[in-house]
Amino acid sequence: MIKITKSVLAATLLGVAALSSCGHDTPGTVGTTPEIEKKVESLLSKMTLEEKIGQMNQVSAQGDISYLTPYIKDGSIGSILNEVDPLKINELQRLAVEEGRLHIPLIVGRDVIHGFRTIFPIPLGIASTFDTELAEKGARVAAIEATAAGVRWTFSPMLDIARDPRWGRIAEGSGEDTYLDSEMGAAMVRGYQGKIGDPSSMAACVKHFVGYGAAEGGRDYNSTHISERMLRNVYLPPFEASIKAGAMTVMTSFNDNDGVPSTGNKFILKDLLRDEWGFDGFVVTDWSSASEMISHGFAVDGKDAAGISLNAGVDMDMMAFVFVRNLKNLVNDGRVREDDIDNAVRNILRIKFLLGLFDNPYVDVDRVDKVTYTAENMAAARETALKSAILLKNDGNVLPLDAKKVKTILVTGPMADAPHDQLGTWTFDGEASRTITPLKAIKDACGEKINVIFEPALSYSRDKNTKGIAKAVAAASKADVVLAFVGEEAILSGEAHCLADLNLRGAQSGLLAALKKSGKPVITTVIAGRPMTIGRDLENSDALLYSFHPGTMGGAALADLIFGKAVPSGRTPATFPREVGQIPMYYNHNMTGRPYTGQTMIDDIPLVAGQTSLGNTSYYLDAGAEPLFPFGYGLSYTTFEYSGITLDKEAYNLNDVMEVSFTIKNTGRYDAQEVTQVYVRDLVGSVTRPVKELKKFERISLKAGESKNVTLKIPVSDLAFWNIDMVKIVEPGDFLLWVAGDSASGDALKFKVIL
Ligand code: NOJ
Repeated sequence: MIKITKSVLAATLLGVAALSSCGHDTPGTVGTTPEIEKKVESLLSKMTLEEKIGQMNQVSAQGDISYLTPYIKDGSIGSILNEVDPLKINELQRLAVEEGRLHIPLIVGRDVIHGFRTIFPIPLGIASTFDTELAEKGARVAAIEATAAGVRWTFSPMLDIARDPRWGRIAEGSGEDTYLDSEMGAAMVRGYQGKIGDPSSMAACVKHFVGYGAAEGGRDYNSTHISERMLRNVYLPPFEASIKAGAMTVMTSFNDNDGVPSTGNKFILKDLLRDEWGFDGFVVTDWSSASEMISHGFAVDGKDAAGISLNAGVDMDMMAFVFVRNLKNLVNDGRVREDDIDNAVRNILRIKFLLGLFDNPYVDVDRVDKVTYTAENMAAARETALKSAILLKNDGNVLPLDAKKVKTILVTGPMADAPHDQLGTWTFDGEASRTITPLKAIKDACGEKINVIFEPALSYSRDKNTKGIAKAVAAASKADVVLAFVGEEAILSGEAHCLADLNLRGAQSGLLAALKKSGKPVITTVIAGRPMTIGRDLENSDALLYSFHPGTMGGAALADLIFGKAVPSGRTPATFPREVGQIPMYYNHNMTGRPYTGQTMIDDIPLVAGQTSLGNTSYYLDAGAEPLFPFGYGLSYTTFEYSGITLDKEAYNLNDVMEVSFTIKNTGRYDAQEVTQVYVRDLVGSVTRPVKELKKFERISLKAGESKNVTLKIPVSDLAFWNIDMVKIVEPGDFLLWVAGDSASGDALKFKVIL
């Protein structure tokens, strides 16, 4: 592994905030102060070795707190997860602060992944908004609600790049693109952490460090094989961006990369995180990932696992208990240095002080009900759901529905009224009773004026019983239009919930095919946790909206879009493959030596064709080379036209900021927002470079018929990558640039970077 030195860095455009490890005389990344460091040192000097190790131990409460009492009192627990009852949290804090010898508060963590009680779209849906302000706002709402209950630490954002929708946890991140993920992650960190020290500030935890989303075959917990260059170019930048935004904690990942489990990986936890990035928050393991190194065959037993984790750079052990059971013996044996334990404890105490937990460990138990589900929070969740829905097809402009022309609507499909399932994965604290489903919202929107028939046809997404389909088809014949809601239940995505087949489950595709035969316009909404292979369902739909599990207000948002109260503007945050066998499929792949140049598909191959007669380029004979939908794609009820795209120069120096200017016109009849995207290609590199990389995006509002002149700025330093010498640098040469509404459109402009 390359060790980055100051001189190497100086010669590059890396721009790392802090170069030396997180010593207390360096600025660090979490915003500590000399006063806080003084307090940390003073407290540390009073602690016994057992008390220090206790700070490094995190335990799950899961409702029963009585068994924790003696351990909290004697200082052998430093953090609790999975308790959200403010009364119980106050009691736990009382035990720690008033009965503990050194009065050290606990830090209480929880998976507040896309909202606490008011549930926002799953993170993949938040990413579909391409709206960092909304992502920040959503995280702030989550923090306000959760901190009111006493939860001051969330295990979010998940920054794992996911190029494989079979992996159930694609739902929890921002999809396949490094830049989008970096921007969304940093925005969420800002939102969660707010004003540090304020009681509503909730420490973010960037996870899973690192490479977890590249699980082989899309099967969770599986090994990854990511080269150092790919780690640095693709998987690490979102983490670096969030650390720069001040993320207070980092969680190790379950996977072993190139044979080394992350929880025992000194290169990533020390060399990168501490020495290169200057991180001075703390590192927590994932749930029992320290002891899982025994299953990996990387540690002999719990004691070995504790030594490996601590020496690799872990500060806190989540639920493996290997630190609390073994660290003292390891110090006595000389396998672990007490100095390293001291550093880990410093990192933890620093965050507890920064959060203000020592001054104010308790919450007002009545507050949580006052700050959750407020009109403001619900409005933010609705706006996010609205901007996250992606319009993938709209033949004959069947959407939006003209309420004046429609008399009867059939609402059908298993996701039309599935209040729990539309919340999506990781919603421990969301309540289905608060969910506005599409059925409810459509009925509300139709009132007395439009007759709404509801025939679910299937009772859940995996339902194979086709009996109800005939009823739905019969109802369709009485309706002017069919609104079909299909997709996936929440349980089919998320941790450990991977799939090898991404077609709609059960009899859902059969339902759509039968409805299509009714001759009535079929408007399909897919509500799911991942991109699915919906090619055949598209054919049976006149229009199709795709909504990643949209949360509490999802139904209301979808009804707004269907009836034209709002215009779709979401974009695909990950490529939609045609067939599962095309995976991994992502827009920013490197160019092969034989890029496809047109394709002869399997049914067109002449009999006894010559071996090389098809051209020998890179594609699947049966699925082609193209995805169903590319990254960044999404339609609107209006159309946009780009013109006059220019760069301010033909050749740039390394320190320049490029200015790309263009005119964008809304050429349709609806006021709407366009997500403008700028892509760049570095034509020749010391290593092969991606065919396109997103470098900027911007939501632009335009009234019907309106034009705007827009200038976007991209620093040339943003074109840097880790090159053949494993140095981050912009290599001079020729580049292409596109400004367009998705990753597959637009005409390229040329520019140069010169020394
Ligand atoms: C395991 C998951 O991988 C992680 O994302 C989560 O934060 C922890 N469990 C805590 O629940």
